[in-house]
Amino acid sequence: MTLDSSGDLDSPDDLFEYELRGVYYGERRLADLLDELQTSATDSDLVDGFASHRDETRDHVARLERAFDALGLEPRERTVPTFDALTEEKRTADDEAVDEAVQNALYNHVGRKAERLELTEYEGLLALADVLDVDDEVVDLLERNRDEDEDALDELESVSEGGQFQSFVDRLL
Ligand SMILES: [Fe+2]
Ligand SMILES: [Fe+2]
Repeated sequence: MTLDSSGDLDSPDDLFEYELRGVYYGERRLADLLDELQTSATDSDLVDGFASHRDETRDHVARLERAFDALGLEPRERTVPTFDALTEEKRTADDEAVDEAVQNALYNHVGRKAERLELTEYEGLLALADVLDVDDEVVDLLERNRDEDEDALDELESVSEGGQFQSFVDRLL
């Protein structure tokens, strides 16, 4: 299976490859974004969470490369601008939030959006894999990435965004 040089999506296999390239692009961008987030954040729970998920995300990239390989494909990216928008949003928070607590809350927000976006991508890809009866090894690699992204989302949700906003508001009142 491989997309023809025109890039036309004219078969279900093409669509699967197209989606896989999109997720591959996203994971690579997010490894960089998580590295930026862990450098910029000052809340220790957030710093630890971003750093450990950055390392996991590097594993996600490696698993996707194994999935491409199992399918007999070269790993190639497809640009998904939504992932780039998250980095833009993080950098806007750097420039515009003057209070550290607010900045941390915004970083938490960006991180959660990133995980939800990834989860949406994996859900679509796994639904397609099911229809196409894709090799179990590939499905297993995708499921492992999805499961770790779910855990990362849970962890970010447990770092209280509300508490960070609250401490900012308390100081101003
Ligand atoms: Fe991931
Ligand atoms: Fe993730």
